[in-house]
Amino acid sequence: MAEKTFYIDEDVGKDVESQTGTEDAPYKTLSFAVLTHTETPKFVARKSLTGEIPEGGDESARLEWKPVAKAAMKKAVNYAKAQQKKAAKEHELLALRAKEDADRKKVLDEAKKIVIEEDKSLPEAVKIKLDDTDAKKIQLGDGKDKKGTRVRVFGRVHRERRQKEVMFVTLRDGYGFMQVILTGPLAKTYDALTLTRETSMQILGELREVPAGAHAPNGRELHADYFKILDVGRAAGGDDAITNRVSKDTEHATLLDLRHLALRGETASKVMIVRDAVEFAFNTVYKELRFRKVSPPALVQTQVEGGATLFKFNYYNEEAYLTQSSQLYLETCLPSMGNVYCIEKSFRAEKSLTRRHLAEYTHVEAELDFIDFGDLLDHLEEIMCRVLDIVMSDPVTKQYIMELNPEFKLPERPFKRMKYSDAIDWLVEHDIKNEDGETHKFGDDIAEAAERRMTDIIDKPIFLTHFPAEIKAFYMPKDKDDARVTESVDCLMPGVGEIVGGSMRMDNYDDLMAAFKREGIDPTAYYWYTDQRKYGSSPHGGYGLGLERFLAWLCKQHTVRDCCLYPRYFGRCKP
Ligand code: 4AD
Repeated sequence: MAEKTFYIDEDVGKDVESQTGTEDAPYKTLSFAVLTHTETPKFVARKSLTGEIPEGGDESARLEWKPVAKAAMKKAVNYAKAQQKKAAKEHELLALRAKEDADRKKVLDEAKKIVIEEDKSLPEAVKIKLDDTDAKKIQLGDGKDKKGTRVRVFGRVHRERRQKEVMFVTLRDGYGFMQVILTGPLAKTYDALTLTRETSMQILGELREVPAGAHAPNGRELHADYFKILDVGRAAGGDDAITNRVSKDTEHATLLDLRHLALRGETASKVMIVRDAVEFAFNTVYKELRFRKVSPPALVQTQVEGGATLFKFNYYNEEAYLTQSSQLYLETCLPSMGNVYCIEKSFRAEKSLTRRHLAEYTHVEAELDFIDFGDLLDHLEEIMCRVLDIVMSDPVTKQYIMELNPEFKLPERPFKRMKYSDAIDWLVEHDIKNEDGETHKFGDDIAEAAERRMTDIIDKPIFLTHFPAEIKAFYMPKDKDDARVTESVDCLMPGVGEIVGGSMRMDNYDDLMAAFKREGIDPTAYYWYTDQRKYGSSPHGGYGLGLERFLAWLCKQHTVRDCCLYPRYFGRCKP
């Protein structure tokens, strides 16, 4: 029988199933032709039916069918073989999956028949939080003669794994974690077999010590005798499972879009729990030091830290701003309340996308009356160290900090104090250039990168003091011994840089008015601030500490964005 011939036309041919490969209906590629006709018939091909023919060229040449070259044939056959192998494998896999699905359906259908019920003859269960270790109400059993307390716990599935007939579930309730063991019929129910992460459940059982050599939170595990998934508690599985939406490998921008889910992760939740402890500790220390807490307005008509970062808005047809700092308002409280503080939001329309700038941040600010600059520095060191002592004295908070920042050590006191002019010398000696790539000189605003390099090399907290007036805010008074500089301080921390900005305040009416003039600010709107200098002024000073920056340092987080609940910065105002 004559060998069958198939035609390949690289120009007008088509690689589709309906094509027959005859001269009238040629294929486009040899690979497709070989794949379709594995009986290795004869193949002929031509380059072009419609292509340009050079002038004087042979018109018939382009129409000519030529046998396919050996090398091209070999390549096409190999390709076809590989494709066939791939298809076979896919087929095999599909079959395997179908079998698995059928098997699983069978198991699940059987599992649906298993109904568990609470054994009412067991002792009444005590409702506890997962971190509850109160020995007065909880005894741990040993799995033999010593019975443990029967408890009832609520939480979400943080992790789950199955080992043959036993299921291990780590439950999380925001207070702690508990290892739960499901055995026997409990592990065979439909709910157990389809349990997804984040599912909310109630579990009852006996608390026992973990066997020697094994580890579990609080050294104990819950041997469940009954569990129930809450009616509203089932968490999405499959493609929509939380592990498919947020994981360690998810991009940072996606994690921020899914912050509501990322917050359930161990790192994010630890940082937020440490944040709560730090904020509480500030309140505690201020109370100890007899500072009174006030709550200044967020909607204002005055600036504090320069017009460039003001968020402006229309306030009943008047221009107003979101506050940059509560400082000026705190100053007005001194005469009636003594030393005051606040923990409020400050807003900065920062257009830069650095790892330490937010558009909305939490500002711990305090104002101290009848002090000098030395008192201000001593107080700042005291408050930061006391807050750290309190935070580290709580075992859970300490554990979280050490897990987030294993090398953390309480800073040595006294903090290093360094004048701005000495910092400039230091930067010159260490050949760290300014933003223009030039050697630093007196008067330069030390930029973020240079500041951080210096802090990282020195590797301990630094009080950087006495900045030139030109690079600082209008309200800072001149140093009595050096008119070039102000009584100002930034506290710099390794890894982050500036976390505190503070200063003495201009307490003299005329000096303050001259400062407004110098800065081109109309003092009219500041009448309530300037009045302070008319009615019993006093030497006073204060500071603002960025809570997120303090946390970024304490918890060793790369960016302040991970140190607040739902970060706001240039380009992000969600979720
Ligand atoms: O140095 P700043 O601008 O000082 C003031 O606002 C003073 N009026 C505070 C006062 O004396 N009451 O800001 C103080 C601190 C900074 O050291 C930094 O920790 C934080 O506030 N901060 C920011 N944190 C996050 N994002 C931003 N955009 C920040 N701007 C300042």
